[in-house]
Amino acid sequence: MAGELAKKQSDQMVRVARLEELPEGVPVSVEAEGWFIGLVRFGDQVFAFLDECTHMEVPLTEGEASPDLVITCSAHGAKFDLRTGKVLSMPATEPLTVFPVRVEDGEVWVKLPE
Ligand code: FES
Repeated sequence: MAGELAKKQSDQMVRVARLEELPEGVPVSVEAEGWFIGLVRFGDQVFAFLDECTHMEVPLTEGEASPDLVITCSAHGAKFDLRTGKVLSMPATEPLTVFPVRVEDGEVWVKLPE
């Protein structure tokens, strides 16, 4: 158990939520290690991203996610691919920072930058 914990700490995975706490397709904001992280669950898949639109830093979790894995900013309508962070629609031009996610035993882990 201690070994497993050490492994998770060493690869910077941080537990941010339980899967059952995340409503289907509804963006949720969590804070971990000083990062504001947006989470969206579709089925057993969870997507994590920096909760800040690259246009004018509005929290993206105030927007809407769609099952084609796109999140739309509530402020001016920029769209991002939840898998890659790629900009799909202006006015944003810079990609969204996305974080790797692991779901294990109903817990959601996110890999944060070092
Ligand atoms: S702040 Fe998100 S589109 Fe402008």
